[in-house]
Amino acid sequence: MRTRCLNRVNAWMSFCLTLAGLGGIGLSAEPYLSPAALVAESKGKTLYIAEATARQVAVFDTETGKVTATIGTPAEPTGLALTGDGALLYVTCGGPQGKICVMDTRTATLRRTLPAGHTPTAPVLSPDGKSLYVCNRFDNSVLAVNTEDGKEVAKVLALREPVAADITPDGKWLYVGNLLPHGSAIADSVACNISIIDAGKTAFDRDIPLPNGSTGLQDLIVSPDGRFVFASHILARYTVPTTQLERGWINTNAVTIIDARRKRLIETVLLDDVDYGAANPWALACTSDSKYLCVTHAGTHELSVIDLTALFEKIQSYRQSNAAHAPAADAYSAYSAGAETPSDIPNELSFLYGLRNRVKLSGKAPRALAIVGQTAYVAEYFTDSMTAVDMSDRPRFKTTSIALGPKQEITVRRKGEILFHDASICFQAWQSCSSCHPSGARADALNWDLLNDGLGNPKNTKSLLLAHKTPPAMITGIRESAEAAVRAGIRHIQFAVRPEEEAAAIDEYLKSLEPVPSPYLRNGKLSRSARRGRKLFEETGCAKCHEGPLFTDMRKHNVGTGEGLDQGRDFDTPTLIEVWRTSPYLYDGRAASMEELLTKYNPQDKHGVTSNLTEDQIRDLAAFVLSH
Ligand code: HEC
Ligand code: HEC
Repeated sequence: MRTRCLNRVNAWMSFCLTLAGLGGIGLSAEPYLSPAALVAESKGKTLYIAEATARQVAVFDTETGKVTATIGTPAEPTGLALTGDGALLYVTCGGPQGKICVMDTRTATLRRTLPAGHTPTAPVLSPDGKSLYVCNRFDNSVLAVNTEDGKEVAKVLALREPVAADITPDGKWLYVGNLLPHGSAIADSVACNISIIDAGKTAFDRDIPLPNGSTGLQDLIVSPDGRFVFASHILARYTVPTTQLERGWINTNAVTIIDARRKRLIETVLLDDVDYGAANPWALACTSDSKYLCVTHAGTHELSVIDLTALFEKIQSYRQSNAAHAPAADAYSAYSAGAETPSDIPNELSFLYGLRNRVKLSGKAPRALAIVGQTAYVAEYFTDSMTAVDMSDRPRFKTTSIALGPKQEITVRRKGEILFHDASICFQAWQSCSSCHPSGARADALNWDLLNDGLGNPKNTKSLLLAHKTPPAMITGIRESAEAAVRAGIRHIQFAVRPEEEAAAIDEYLKSLEPVPSPYLRNGKLSRSARRGRKLFEETGCAKCHEGPLFTDMRKHNVGTGEGLDQGRDFDTPTLIEVWRTSPYLYDGRAASMEELLTKYNPQDKHGVTSNLTEDQIRDLAAFVLSH
């Protein structure tokens, strides 16, 4: 039994690694482009477009409106940075052994490739061009590279999945946006952070927590005048049961503004209207005079154009008129370290009324944005297109749609992916499935009090990887299959009635998800510590329930974790594939780390026998579990 089990584990691992080596067979075979990042050359004549599925960078001439060349990349391109003179283009390319491709823009060729960490993204050049910073997303670190010799200068830790970055114009501070909250989901405040790095010393400076419920941070920019930092994210109202969607009851959509000089949070402003959400805020850009901020809404297929002068005036006057109620003397200390906000602005739907225009785009899923003069170019991920929005033509905002390639037939799988990310199937467009299941249908790290298992017992969002292969669904196993959970999600979380074929397409998409190789692997293999942990996994009894290649017996057990209304409850054994990516752990996300799960939260040895293990053994066991 023991050896058979281990062999199956190994077989699964090598299967995953093969997939990783090929970079995900299924997806790369699809003919789509999927534009995911954009950068404009300073004169604005040329745009470079990172096309994720096509694995290439397209060169786009803004005068002729045509793609003039494409340059292949060794893996999915995730981000772009261009030198001030426009001569070199740095392209981050995904994968566990990520790469930075340095391209010569004059010849449209690959000049050299530099090594990076796990899934590098968001490359940023220092203003003098001497340093390049890259977010190693799944290593939770930021890599600094000397651009002259291509050597690594330092690695600085960020918090959790850094995916966005920008540098102040004086080159002193690098601001980094973390996609997800870290830590326990039952903490007083659960939110993603902005990490600040001292660029001169290449050292960590501080983290700025966003307001409670902030998750799914997608972009971050420094305004061209260097005064502000803007970050786009979801502001989840996870502390209330998901009984309705009216007035942003479940998820709202926000931009947080940081004072770049004082390194302090100024305000978080909602992008939604009272009866119409602005779901999945994504890419950000400012006009060069720092007067307008543009935000794309990937879920509602729109561009918001915000008048910043008017916005700051409104924040000021709002604060003055509410000064009597505000506990903080200094308006700028609005909410430090996740404290209660003295200002009520983050709860004001339609705060942007009169200060912002919502421009409807013709393509789907605008995820990248670049401003050239008075034109905003928005790249639309699912329609292989761009929309050029003429901002000089306010408030009409003339739009021109540009096809980046031939029209392709949409497979059922792709249709499902589109629907999963589309808030227009949701009542009043407040959220898409990806609002709670971000970055390829994983998890937002928050607890939600969904109604399927009663009220007052929140559950940590589950990743949907392997959901269809590991019935039953939901941690309580209350739905017999993921198919049933998908249909329940549409009806009871999106408050929508949709045709069956849409649910079936979402099933196809979710079934196509593939695990990302763990950052705990060493050259694709278990580390020494993890190999020791493999034995412990057997000895402590984990494999009894977490059995087989997917590490689950697909049954329910009481492992002594249930509390409150869930006291004494059985839970469905979850798969352990990709748990390295889905902290916090247990049904209510109480355990911030694997170590905590194995010690503090297993006091009676009901969840495997771990109380007699030494600290080193706990570390080894955790290393094994986190390697899958
Ligand atoms: C408000 C946040 C939220 C939204 C929006 C949301 N989900 Fe979920 N989803 C959750 C949470 C929380 C769980 C885990 C709950 C549990 O286990 O009891 C979950 C679980 C699931 C599961 C079960 C996974 C498993 O393996 O057991 C599926 C399938 C699922 N969601 C699909 C969807 C789909 C499809 C959509 C869009 C129609 C969607 N979800 C929208 C929060 C959300
Ligand atoms: C008796 C069956 C059983 C045994 C033995 C067992 N587990 Fe579990 N495991 C479960 C169940 C059921 C849950 C869900 C509990 C919850 O959410 O509170 C779970 C949850 C987990 C989780 C959390 C996953 C997540 O996404 O939140 C991890 C990690 C885990 N187990 C690892 C282990 C390890 C390591 C061992 C051995 C020390 C072990 N389990 C032993 C049944 C078992």
